[in-house]
Amino acid sequence: MNCKPILFAAVALAAIPASAEKIHISTSEASMVLDAEAGRPLHFVYFGAPLGTADVEALDNSGSRYLKAYPVYGLEAARETAMSVTHPDGNMTLDPVVRSVETSKDADGATVITVRMTDRVYPFGINVNYRTYPDAGVIETWVDAVNNGKKDVELREFASGYLPVRSGDVYLTSFYGSWANEARMEEEPLTHGMKIIKNKDGLRNTHTAHPEVMFSLDGRPRENEGRVIGAALEYPGNYRLRIDTDDSDYHHFFAGINEDNSAYTLAKGETFTTPALALAYSQEGKGGVSRQFHNWARRHRLAHGTETRKILLNSWEGVYFDINEQGMHAMIDDIASMGGELFVMDDGWFGVKYPRNNDSSSLGDWTVDTRKLPKGIGNLVDKARSAGIDFGIWIEPEMTNSVSELYEAHPEYIIKPSNREPVQGRGGTQLVLDLANPKVQELVFEVVDTLLTKYPGIDYIKWDSNAPVMNHGSQYLPANRQSHLQHEYWRGFSKVMDRIRAKYPDVTIQACASGGGRANYGILPWFDEFWVSDNTDALQRVFMQWGTSHFFPAVAMGSHISATPNHQTFRTIPMKFRIDVAMSGRLGMEIQPKNMTDEEKAMCRGAIAQYKEIRPVVQQGDLYRLLSPYDGKGLASLMYVTPGKEQAVFYWWKIETFADQHLPRVPMAGLDPDALYTVTELNRVDNTPLPFEGKTFTGRYLMDNGLEIPYTNNVDYHKRTDYSSRVLRLDRK
Ligand code: GLA
Repeated sequence: MNCKPILFAAVALAAIPASAEKIHISTSEASMVLDAEAGRPLHFVYFGAPLGTADVEALDNSGSRYLKAYPVYGLEAARETAMSVTHPDGNMTLDPVVRSVETSKDADGATVITVRMTDRVYPFGINVNYRTYPDAGVIETWVDAVNNGKKDVELREFASGYLPVRSGDVYLTSFYGSWANEARMEEEPLTHGMKIIKNKDGLRNTHTAHPEVMFSLDGRPRENEGRVIGAALEYPGNYRLRIDTDDSDYHHFFAGINEDNSAYTLAKGETFTTPALALAYSQEGKGGVSRQFHNWARRHRLAHGTETRKILLNSWEGVYFDINEQGMHAMIDDIASMGGELFVMDDGWFGVKYPRNNDSSSLGDWTVDTRKLPKGIGNLVDKARSAGIDFGIWIEPEMTNSVSELYEAHPEYIIKPSNREPVQGRGGTQLVLDLANPKVQELVFEVVDTLLTKYPGIDYIKWDSNAPVMNHGSQYLPANRQSHLQHEYWRGFSKVMDRIRAKYPDVTIQACASGGGRANYGILPWFDEFWVSDNTDALQRVFMQWGTSHFFPAVAMGSHISATPNHQTFRTIPMKFRIDVAMSGRLGMEIQPKNMTDEEKAMCRGAIAQYKEIRPVVQQGDLYRLLSPYDGKGLASLMYVTPGKEQAVFYWWKIETFADQHLPRVPMAGLDPDALYTVTELNRVDNTPLPFEGKTFTGRYLMDNGLEIPYTNNVDYHKRTDYSSRVLRLDRK
């Protein structure tokens, strides 16, 4: 069994002796120990490297006796808390004590330990839950707030989880950005005071800050050494992560829904369940935490996470809104001829009364525009099939425009406060539909259901979301529940997605939100992948994908070859480098093939063929980040290794160029030291093979030394550029 409540499980209060009772929550990678003595508050004892029974039994609470596992507001010296409420009589305090501990198995084969607490005086319960998996190191924790009374209780704070991190030389790694510059990594020592990472949008929660952090406990963060804790809040809405470094020996870490303007009225008999906070611990540095998250994600938290993804062409940067039948047919033929497996028609295909020619109209009117596509979508599905590939389509079903037939018929469907005109978003007209409203839930389900019923050949949906929640107000919720808007939005969304997945378990769905706004574990169980960024510039992608890779596996990261000059940065990057970066994620293309030269097409055809061979390694392998683009060494490098260490793929990207430059040699990682590996360069453009081409080295040599990689590609003079990159395949002999 994976979780070991060492002294009791599923026992009622009466059965518990009045001595300290420890719960040991364990995975192959970590142990968490709690003190759940009946009739007393739940205490935190330990989170770190796996412990044996002797240590668990020997552990006392000295030094941490005052650390509650889930601190609440009201009775103790003022500190940050995880939960605060107002009882019906105005009392603002909580005093929960342990009543029982229960262990159960869930449908996913995971073990759930539930510590049930109730307030000493008020009819209010708090269940703290911990889930572990037999095949993953991650521990998830979440809380149920239970109103057993006869009147409403106001929830003012409701964090998913709390973790005390022992102070010392602790560094925080976090991810920040903005549209077209998502997931920039930031690393800083934790000092006194409070660090808050938050999102208030509610809809697209990873454009700016990410709700995932790592704590490096042994000084500056390192990739493959040092003790590191990773934490990811599994919630796609408004969130708040707090790290309070006070006068104690701990950094107090809290994560949960952002309570600002979202206080929750808990009705009598109602239970409010928070989203989960996923925690991992590794002694193999940040890379160890990343590998644990990737493994857990693929097995348990990402739709079809253990399956490989198709190589696609998406029409957006190729044609933008200029959709027409001839153009779509040409793109289908082009991607098929390069060896691709899927064509995705992006925005611009719909709208009857209001054709979708730009972003200022038509969302909600999901009827094909037969002026653009006279033979409809069925014709494109058939065309793709006859070209030997699959067909996918873009939708943005949570949205409408004020210029649309949907809005004309149902102005009451949008999110908007009473007595006010809504502020409008993208295109000057975009509005968010109110998923709190069951009729809107039905409508959104029907958008997908109609498409997939009418065209069962649709294999892939790009589900976009291009507006933030503005206009705080629900036209559906009653006046005294307006602060529930964001909660009810996500409940409504979850219901719709559950229905879609129940009926269409096999369709591939991408989460896009103006690029990387929905890279989040709260949404991934229904989605196969996300679009990392609307910025497809390969050089900037090295940085964004580096940050994203800290918590998300390559199989989830849409990474496309696009045009040059790039449409976002206007940077000119050679095809070789664009390919070599895109091939480190879920490879696709975002380009107009008819504008490519024959040579470029041939390069892409070759790259696609080679990617098919390494796809299982990239998408399912273990990631080792080797040299960070943030280290200012002019290089970035990473590799993927199969779990059995039979095969690896090594990426090397030169990210700045100076004459007489001196770049470091990059030692590899993750290989079997005693095995022999043969090196083959992929996407080769050099006139002559690299000196080590086809040679065989021990894993030990490669990990101790790395290979000496030439700084430039050895190509004809007129083909030289300021870029250089390499992809090497390593095969165990
Ligand atoms: C968003 C997406 C893009 C594209 C456009 C279409 O910006 O991120 O990839 O789909 O919408 O309007």
